[in-house]
Amino acid sequence: MRLDTSRVIRLVDYKAPDWLIETVHLDATLDDTRTRIVATIQFKPNPKGMGGALVLDGDDLVLESLALDGVQLPTFAYTIDRHTLTLHDTPQRAFTLTIVTLLDPAANSQLMGLYRSSGNYCTQCEAEGFRRITFFLDRPDVMAVYTTRIVAKKEEASVLLGNGNRVEAGDLPNGWHYAVWHDPHPKPSYLFALVVGKLGKVGGSFMTRSGRNVELGIYVESGKENRAGYALDALIRSMKWDEEAFGCEYDLDVFNIVAVSDFNMGAMENKGLNIFNDKYVLASPETATDADYANIEAIIAHEYFHNWTGNRITCRDWFQLCLKEGLTVFRDQEFSADQRSRAVKRIADVRTLRSQQFTEDSGPLAHPVRPFEYREINNFYTPTVYEKGAELIRMLKTLLGADDFRKGMDEYLARCDGTAATIEEFIACFVDTSGRDLTHFARWYEQAGTPLVSVTETFDSESGHYRIHFAQSTKPTPGQPDKQAMVIPLAIAFLNKQGLELKLTPKTGQLDDHVFVLDTESADLVFEHLDEKPVLSALRGFSAPIVLELDTSDDDRLVMLAHDTDPFNRWQAAQGFAMKLLKAASITRREGREMHFDPRFAEAVSHVLNGKDHAFIAQILALPSESDIAREIGDNVDPDAVRDARLGLRRALGHHIGQPLQLLYATLETKESYRPDPQSAGSRSLRNVALDLLAIGMPEIGLRLAEQQYRTADNMTDRFAALAVLAQHRGEAREIALEHFANTFENDPLVLDKWFSLQASIPELETLDRVKRLMAHPGFSMKNPNRLRSLIGAFAAGNPSQFNRADGAGYDFVSEIVIDTDRSNPQVAARILGAFKTWRTLEPDRRALAETALRRIADQDQLSPDVLDIVTRTLA
Ligand code: BES
Ligand code: ZN
Repeated sequence: MRLDTSRVIRLVDYKAPDWLIETVHLDATLDDTRTRIVATIQFKPNPKGMGGALVLDGDDLVLESLALDGVQLPTFAYTIDRHTLTLHDTPQRAFTLTIVTLLDPAANSQLMGLYRSSGNYCTQCEAEGFRRITFFLDRPDVMAVYTTRIVAKKEEASVLLGNGNRVEAGDLPNGWHYAVWHDPHPKPSYLFALVVGKLGKVGGSFMTRSGRNVELGIYVESGKENRAGYALDALIRSMKWDEEAFGCEYDLDVFNIVAVSDFNMGAMENKGLNIFNDKYVLASPETATDADYANIEAIIAHEYFHNWTGNRITCRDWFQLCLKEGLTVFRDQEFSADQRSRAVKRIADVRTLRSQQFTEDSGPLAHPVRPFEYREINNFYTPTVYEKGAELIRMLKTLLGADDFRKGMDEYLARCDGTAATIEEFIACFVDTSGRDLTHFARWYEQAGTPLVSVTETFDSESGHYRIHFAQSTKPTPGQPDKQAMVIPLAIAFLNKQGLELKLTPKTGQLDDHVFVLDTESADLVFEHLDEKPVLSALRGFSAPIVLELDTSDDDRLVMLAHDTDPFNRWQAAQGFAMKLLKAASITRREGREMHFDPRFAEAVSHVLNGKDHAFIAQILALPSESDIAREIGDNVDPDAVRDARLGLRRALGHHIGQPLQLLYATLETKESYRPDPQSAGSRSLRNVALDLLAIGMPEIGLRLAEQQYRTADNMTDRFAALAVLAQHRGEAREIALEHFANTFENDPLVLDKWFSLQASIPELETLDRVKRLMAHPGFSMKNPNRLRSLIGAFAAGNPSQFNRADGAGYDFVSEIVIDTDRSNPQVAARILGAFKTWRTLEPDRRALAETALRRIADQDQLSPDVLDIVTRTLA
């Protein structure tokens, strides 16, 4: 394997910067291949630093000239190497550098720094992209006030956008024009942005609670303005919500969002100028699904919420990433919960947490929410930092209670405003306002791995003595062999056999407001004089990011499924029952025996079909995914057996409850025109799960309905759901529908992405050939991250049985693409490579094939730091 020489960055090595920056004046004259950046930067010594030579970060830059306090410097006055510019004889006082760099945005395929997307110019600077625009102290603890002057040809670019407020604009000779933007709030370089080009605008306004009027703009590709309305509506709701829920008011005169079609991530929170992957802005009933609408709402909110948690208060260094990301994910989750169904939102979030974060936490890429070291920061925008990071905030709120949580947040927003903060400073705000000791809780930030809490109940029917024994443990993770006990808040309730909640007070142990805090390796709760063993409803609302091992009897599960007052645990009861059947069936299947499914599951599910919350019932009908099942099995996994088991249970369920499903399908039909509101979206989701189960359990009926629905649907949600059902069933009908869909939407890349993903996820052996064929489709491009993710990403991460084909062809294919993509876009290549993270849990033959493919990647000699880091850790 190639020797890994890239630098390791360690948290313990953090040092305050030697130099600070007061102001930055950036003058950008845009040109396809020769964009000139004149950066005038005021430096001053940091009183907390050591002085010495000024060393600036730079990446892929051509320096045209460098002046100190207005005087041009000779080339011997500084040294430039691959990643730095060092100023010799740096004056030990405040001074100004004027740096002129030349950029080639057209050649920027990494999509970091300044690049072109569909004829426009845009930037992406987080985490370390600003150094691809000019030489700079490109670290988040260097905060400065920015003024940006943008110059471009009028004919090429009518729109000139920057951070902050526009303070000047006008015409220049020869068909050029300019605009000057000033952002009064000091910010780190990663929040810098500019956008230049021909774009359509949808405008609006928002009155803040203190009465300031904010002009809002959503900029999209011309002609797509009619798809920007929902994003604008979501933005206005987000601004209002943040004032009410967290007291956060917007702080500039304008807030702009730009949708671009080439973007590595989902979206970016640049101050006053958020830049979005257009997938998370554009929506119309004919082109976007209910899930797309929900994503847009959540991501618009997330990036907007960063204005306080991320921008006004930023991170001292990238180890503190969860300070902004985990907290902001928590905030966007709460926003969506308030706008929609809280229960359904929680279920969806826990599904994501378990499928993404739990998988990461149990594999070779496991790391703490706040890592101790990294080689490539781009690889740490992970489910652990984001989703587990959000769970830590949620636990903090559970432990402190809503009032003390809000007091701590208020304190944080006031005390740390305008600073680059750390997790320690964040926690200190809660300690100071609540008077609680959070030292032990803070371990959650440092210890990787998912704690396992096993619960054993003993009940003595003679004496009525009921004991619950809790024990926690965490498996070793890379670099952390020994684990300590964590502070785990367990929300708990007791039900009788009729499902009524019992009010029980423990004789030993403490239950505060239904929460038991397990903060030692083991502990007991003891109750006396009970008539019967209660049904234990534990980990309600998923009160901690743990795996709960509780041997609930089938009877108790059925009580909870029917009656639990905690909707999360009602859903969990169904999931737990299904998971038990699926695990057993996977093993049966692997041994070549016939699978059998306990009909009591279908029976119980049939009783919840008539509830009122349609979205919730849809969640109950949606079985654990193949990767969930694989994770539960844990080792020696045969993905084909898992797929067959899941198909088997869906078939059994669809068959058993076929009649009520048919009825439900008919009842939920509506003549009303499409609206993306949560209620009607919930009804559609239930109707479409019913269709899916019918098509597999009663194919003659279900497939006919699916064909009909595909033809008559007036919205993408129903149309695509029907297509997805057809796609799961071999035959002519699906090929006809797939072709029809492609013809209908051939000019709509975001819709074609759905079509690519759907085909890449078909769990059949022919799929790999189909994916290879689709790479030649005129709508596909290896250069666009959305296309790559929708086809290759969906195959690698969303089709476990085919990516993990027994002949290794899936690994060979994906590894070739990773190697190829790494040459143009390392970030996206590294993400696709992430699909290999479960390789060690597979049965031995597949494990060997996966390892061979991984070694082939590792043996390449020109790997990016991104891919090198992931492949090295995956193999370690
Ligand atoms: N700050 C990130 C965007 C980002 C991520 C920039 C990684 C550079 C590297 C942004 O706030 C974010 O978290 N975006 C998410 C979506 C969000 C709703 C979780 C994304 O892009 O996936
Ligand atoms: Zn974010």
